[in-house]
Amino acid sequence: MIRKAYSSDAKFIFETLAKTLTPWEEQGILGSIEHDLVFILEGEGVIIARQTLDELEILNFAVKKELRGQGYGKSLLGFLLDHAEKSGVKTAFLDVRQSNIAAVSLYKSFGFEICGKRKNYYRNPPEDAVLMNLNIN
Ligand SMILES: CC(C)(COP(=O)(O)OP(=O)(O)OC[C@H]1O[C@@H](n2cnc3c(N)ncnc32)[C@H](O)[C@@H]1OP(=O)(O)O)[C@@H](O)C(=O)NCCC(=O)NCCS
Repeated sequence: MIRKAYSSDAKFIFETLAKTLTPWEEQGILGSIEHDLVFILEGEGVIIARQTLDELEILNFAVKKELRGQGYGKSLLGFLLDHAEKSGVKTAFLDVRQSNIAAVSLYKSFGFEICGKRKNYYRNPPEDAVLMNLNIN
């Protein structure tokens, strides 16, 4: 079951993101739980986004390494976008590592399109970012 995250979920979210190339500090996670949209599939994955008026930015997103490829990512992203649509969001956007084929394919399957690139945007390791957006309403 997908649900909103609470501060008691911060450790699970920290551990899930720690295994990715975009880990977050626990403080940042707690801040997002308080101010942003953070949804979890308990024990499986998390998606974090920020809604500003009618725009939604996906800030981070991960499924536990050993559980990938089983549809959990699709469920989390679908849940977030449903929620966003009901909240009046018109555009969703994000950036993703150019080499992240799994994530880019997943976003494309929901209708996201590549709309730009940011040279050397990421560190550890350095890599270009691909920018993607989706018109919702
Ligand atoms: C991106 C991520 C969240 C996807 O979660 P997941 O649970 O593995 O994804 P799903 O099993 O729901 O797959 C959904 C779709 O994504 C795409 N996909 C997933 N894994 C893929 C892979 N290894 N190669 C190509 N496409 C892939 C496919 O389109 C798939 O749909 P299909 O199964 O109908 O073909 C997961 O790979 C992850 O945690 N990656 C590390 C963190 C990360 O990169 N986050 C994104 C930051 S922008």
